[in-house]
Amino acid sequence: MHYSRRDFLSFLGISSTGVLLGSYAMGCRNRPLNMSEFNFKGLPQGLSLDKVTLVDGLNSNVILRYGDAIGPNKAFGFNNDYIAFLPAQDPKQGLLWVNHEYTNPLFIHGVIDPQAKTQAQVEQEMKALGGSIVHISQDPKGHWSIDAAHPDNHRITGLTQIPLVSPAPIEGSHTAMGTFANCAGGVTPWGTVLTCEENYQDYYGERIAFDKREIKKGSYNTGWDRFYQNPPEHYGWVVEVDAEQKSAKKLTALGRFSHEGATCVQAKDGRTVVYMGDDKADECIYKFISKRAGSLEEGVLYVADTSKGSWVELDREAHPVLKEAFQNQTQLLTWARQAAKLVGGTPQHRPEDIEINPNNGDVLVALTNHKSKEDFFGSILKIKEHNGDHLSLSFASETFITGGPETGFAAPDNLTFDPRGNLWITTDISGSSVNKTPYSFHGNNGLFVVPVKGSNAGKAVQVASAPHDAEFTGPCFSPDGKTLFLSVQHPGEGSKSLSALTSNWPDGGDASPAPSIIAITGPVLEELSGVKV
Ligand code: FEO
Ligand code: CA
Ligand code: CA
Ligand code: CA
Repeated sequence: MHYSRRDFLSFLGISSTGVLLGSYAMGCRNRPLNMSEFNFKGLPQGLSLDKVTLVDGLNSNVILRYGDAIGPNKAFGFNNDYIAFLPAQDPKQGLLWVNHEYTNPLFIHGVIDPQAKTQAQVEQEMKALGGSIVHISQDPKGHWSIDAAHPDNHRITGLTQIPLVSPAPIEGSHTAMGTFANCAGGVTPWGTVLTCEENYQDYYGERIAFDKREIKKGSYNTGWDRFYQNPPEHYGWVVEVDAEQKSAKKLTALGRFSHEGATCVQAKDGRTVVYMGDDKADECIYKFISKRAGSLEEGVLYVADTSKGSWVELDREAHPVLKEAFQNQTQLLTWARQAAKLVGGTPQHRPEDIEINPNNGDVLVALTNHKSKEDFFGSILKIKEHNGDHLSLSFASETFITGGPETGFAAPDNLTFDPRGNLWITTDISGSSVNKTPYSFHGNNGLFVVPVKGSNAGKAVQVASAPHDAEFTGPCFSPDGKTLFLSVQHPGEGSKSLSALTSNWPDGGDASPAPSIIAITGPVLEELSGVKV
């Protein structure tokens, strides 16, 4: 089956040739938003219930959960995060790409001590990470379901051999074993998926410095390195997945760091610009401009200097300080963080997801928090490229909205725009902080919308509250904006044992919790984000 790229392109109002598209863009303009009287009433602050609580006028159902069979010897992985919907010609069916970010041994095989795991248990964890490709369709009543036997279903895991696209070998190889720590992502204008390796250091560690050989472990020790000693430099990349071809490749041109996501926009000359955050305290915001249309294998990586409003090229030939520090451009890209600091990249408060406002081209960056700088609630930064041109190397920036008790949200993580241009935000207050001072006002993690029109325009309105210990991730709209696919990640993560569970979602009773994908539908979405396709 062939899957089109209609939803992504129409979000941006462009076609594959860069011309304004008919269907979505026209549909948006021709149908007045008519939301001035739409009294959208949010949830009360501070909810802490072990269920998915939604505003009146929305409902949800679980469509996929950890362990679901999706083919012979293939199961849906653990801790689902980023979701991309790739519609077929009929937009009521398509493929879902889903990231699987990290392990929780308690719910995978039960052995928590990394030193006690067998190789088979480590490989079970490897198979639970990476990504899933699953065929999905909507029946005439509007109910979405997956086809567990569809031949297009596929898994990419921590054991899959994946080429490293790079002019020079990396640690002696052009192939990496596996992808994992897959946090957020993006969709390219040609319909491939970008899945981003974030906290890679928890699996094979990280060198203590770019010019040293010693490896230090991440703060979350999985013990994978007891059985496989893969080089850390093979991880921390953006991985491009062709879901139809069931192939993947690691794009080294986009640099190596804790990649949160990779948000693409097609420039006016047909090249692709990718915006990316490095989710670590005091790390940076990047953008990549491809060398040619239709490929991210070559191009130029830039880091944001938000104090000067400039994108600084990370090219050895452009800066003597980089030429001196790195032996070649591949080494520079492998240690992009160090290169960024050498040329004045601005340290940020943990850049998470980035989205581009389809109505005006503004680039919004979730800066989730920086506790040691007493920024507990985070904010969203707005970058306005000079002349609205994504190829520009200068920009203006300002805070778009700040988290806290007044706005109601804290620790913004994932962002998405619906087809009408409303901004959706998910929050990620860490398990050790949620429901404690200073986050008590927030309750469990949640989903918020900032409407573009109506009485709530510009305000964050809470739409959903997550089960205990969970965060919502990967918000993804169907092409008509009437369904929101959403990951419910790590419910019950604080459980000390299977007999002391902190969540029983989704089954309730005394069931073990299960990371799952839900489909949210209902009249509120029809009114707020729905469009004709
Ligand atoms: Fe995996 Fe930065 O969230
Ligand atoms: Ca994230
Ligand atoms: Ca996003
Ligand atoms: Ca997160």
